[in-house]
Amino acid sequence: MRERLLAAEKVKSIDWRDGRLYLLDQRKLPLQTLWHAYESAAAVAEAIRDMVVRGAPAIGISAAYGVVLGARARLAAGEDWRAALEQDFALLAASRPTAVNLFWALNRMRDRLDRLGQGEDPLRVLEREAIAIHDSDREANLTMAQFGVELIRKHNHNAQQLLTHCNTGALATGGFGTALGVIRAAQLDGLVECVHVDETRPWLQGSRLTAWELAGEGVPVSLNVDAAAAHLMKTRAITWVIVGADRITANGDVANKIGTYQLAVTAMHHGVRFMVVAPSSTIDMSLESGDDIPIEERAGGELLEVGGQRIAADIAAFNPVFDVTPADLIDAIVTEKGVVERPTAEKMAELMNRKRLH
Ligand code: MRU
Repeated sequence: MRERLLAAEKVKSIDWRDGRLYLLDQRKLPLQTLWHAYESAAAVAEAIRDMVVRGAPAIGISAAYGVVLGARARLAAGEDWRAALEQDFALLAASRPTAVNLFWALNRMRDRLDRLGQGEDPLRVLEREAIAIHDSDREANLTMAQFGVELIRKHNHNAQQLLTHCNTGALATGGFGTALGVIRAAQLDGLVECVHVDETRPWLQGSRLTAWELAGEGVPVSLNVDAAAAHLMKTRAITWVIVGADRITANGDVANKIGTYQLAVTAMHHGVRFMVVAPSSTIDMSLESGDDIPIEERAGGELLEVGGQRIAADIAAFNPVFDVTPADLIDAIVTEKGVVERPTAEKMAELMNRKRLH
């Protein structure tokens, strides 16, 4: 499966080349393929905040490269570079609040710096660490894809109707994707009849990104408005809802794109299984439950306008971009360390104590 997945790889959104970070502008897809080059930590922080790059693992990877760019500028300035670099860490950390992969990657970069050996070149060390974060996410995607497919096959050997939300694919990660990686692997194994994709208002990650990624690989895909999910579950024999995550807490609660919670409630009502796929870098054992997760709220204008065109009266709008699905609505959390079925605090702790595979 690993080789077949690697052979199917087509899209990437993050490229580190010749000491520069290149990001594919996800706001423009699928109509335009536009890459931007980044040479400063501040510019990377802005790209994360403005959604040039999005998706929890992709945000973390980009921030790690942002630290490398910051360190290069601080070292060249000859100031107290280590203290000055903390400003870049702070800027990057303030770019988006919910996906814990951002903070996980920044902490990993800082830890490596704190362990700098005598005579080691800080820039080379940081660059190697950022590349390792990027590579290990790709590896984690491959492992999760295999675990996820085994889980689907365990319950049903036939081609199935799946439902997904937001974008969790190559664009959102360093590899093939989390939930979308499982769906890709399921397609290669003949387990997919159709993937139903929620359009995912208001940024339309489903219609613009997920549908584009899947169609580009010949996966049968059908787009629906977010509000059609319950109707689909009732009428189309959906077997699994498969989604990613931005932060999973110690008790197995899951923060993901707004609308995920109502999908889980609806899935439970219809007897549809609910799978969350995320690398262990998305798990935040420091938070007891989902109630503690900071939920990003973006500008109301994102709801009042479509394509820059005003569509609503001059009113207030509430625009939380993530929600929390309680652990008891989740059938399985798939990570590169293994699968947790019917998550509980005990099972999450046991998972996190397992050795990292990558
Ligand atoms: O606001 P976004 O597009 O960054 O939100 C992305 C999601 O919610 C994804 O489902 C999540 O990050 C998992 S990506 C592998």
